[in-house]
Amino acid sequence: MKLLSEIKIGDLTLKNRVIMAPLTRNRSTIDRVPSSLNIKYYTQRAEAGLIITESTAVSPSGVGYVNAPGIYTKEQIDGWRKVTDKVHERGGMIFVQLFHVGRISHPDFLGGKQPVAPSAIKPNGQVYTYEGYKDYVRPKMLELDEITQIVEDFKIAAKNAQTAGFDGIEIHAANGYLINQFIDDVSNTRTDIYGGVVENRSRLLFEILEAVSQIWDSTKIGVRLSPSGVFNDVGDSASKSTYQFIIEKLNNYNLGYLHLMNPMMPIDHNTEMITNVAQYYGKFYKGHLMANGGYSRDTGNEIIESKEADMVAYGRLFIANPDLPTRFLLDAELNSPDQETFYGGNEKGYTDYPFLAHNPNLIKS
Ligand SMILES: Cc1cc2nc3c(=O)[nH]c(=O)nc-3n(C[C@H](O)[C@H](O)[C@H](O)COP(=O)(O)O)c2cc1C
Repeated sequence: MKLLSEIKIGDLTLKNRVIMAPLTRNRSTIDRVPSSLNIKYYTQRAEAGLIITESTAVSPSGVGYVNAPGIYTKEQIDGWRKVTDKVHERGGMIFVQLFHVGRISHPDFLGGKQPVAPSAIKPNGQVYTYEGYKDYVRPKMLELDEITQIVEDFKIAAKNAQTAGFDGIEIHAANGYLINQFIDDVSNTRTDIYGGVVENRSRLLFEILEAVSQIWDSTKIGVRLSPSGVFNDVGDSASKSTYQFIIEKLNNYNLGYLHLMNPMMPIDHNTEMITNVAQYYGKFYKGHLMANGGYSRDTGNEIIESKEADMVAYGRLFIANPDLPTRFLLDAELNSPDQETFYGGNEKGYTDYPFLAHNPNLIKS
C-alpha cells in the first residue's frame, strides 16, 4: 500500500508515510529534561517514517505544562541527544516540534511573571499546574523588542536541535499557542505591524521561518497549522482566507512539509470551519503535505492514493501501537489507546503497550 511506501524529502528518505504525530505526554523531569522513559518510548516507535516529538519549549517563558520538555538548557539538549541517538540506532528519523505557549501558561510556571501574548486577552479555561487546575490569567501584551527576542529564541532552539542530533524541526503554529495566537483575530487585536491584516498577523510565523532557515536547510523544516482549530480559545473570523494566504505564502519557503490538522473540537469562534483540512487547503500548497486528524489505516492510505496528501500523521494510534507501520502492513488488530494515561504518570499507558508477538522489528529494551 502507498501509505507504506518510502518518500524522499530533500535529502532525507522516509521509509514509510506513517508519521508519528506530536504528542505531549508530560513524562519528562521537573527541569524539563527528557527522561530514560522518554528515550524508551520514542525508540519503541522508530518504525515510523518520521517521529515528530511532543511540543518542546524554546525558552523558559514559553512553557505551560507540567513535566513537558524544553530545548534551551544543556541538560535538555543532552537528554534529547540520548533520544535521537537511540532512535537513529533503530533506523528511525526524528524532528523536534518547537513551540512557545504564549498565554496558555500560568505565573506558577514563569517565576510569578505574567504569560505573554499578542494582546492582553485572557483565554477561557484552566491550566493544570503543579498545584492542580487554575484559571488562565490575563496575559501581558508583547512589546516589539520582546517579539524580536522570541524570534531569536526559536533560532537558538533550532541550533540546539542540531546539537541534540535531530533530523529536522517542526514549527508549531497550531492549537492556540503563541504563533497561532498571533494569526487568529480572536486573540490578536494589535494595531501595529503584527496586527490587523493577515500579512501582519502571520508576520511572526514568517520571521521565525526566516530565522530558523539560517540554521537548517529549509527541507528539514516543517510547519504545523490547524486552520479550523479552536483549541485553547483561538479562532479566526475569516479562517478560509487567512489560512489560504499563509499556505500560499509558505510555497516560497521550500519546506520539508506542511502539516495540516483536522479540527478536533466543535466549531466556536471559527466561522468557516473546514472538516477535511488537507483536501480543502492542500490545493493551495505545492510541496509535501502531511495530513492529520482521525485517520485510520484505510482512510490514511486513501488520501495518499488520491494524492491529496503525501504522508499521514497518527496521534492516538501511535500512543497505543508502537509498531503501527507493521500492524498496518499485516492489517493486524490495533491496541486501543487509554485516555486516562495520556498525560503524565509512569510507564503505564506509555511504554507498556504490547508489540505484535510476530513483529520482526520487535524492540524490547
Ligand atoms: C495526548 C495528546 C497529546 C497531544 N500533544 C500534541 C502536541 O504536543 N503538539 C501538537 O501539535 N499536537 C498534539 N496533539 C494533537 C495530535 O498531534 C493529533 O493532532 C491528534 O491526536 C489528532 O490525530 P489522531 O486522530 O491521529 O489522534 C496531542 C494529542 C493528544 C491525544
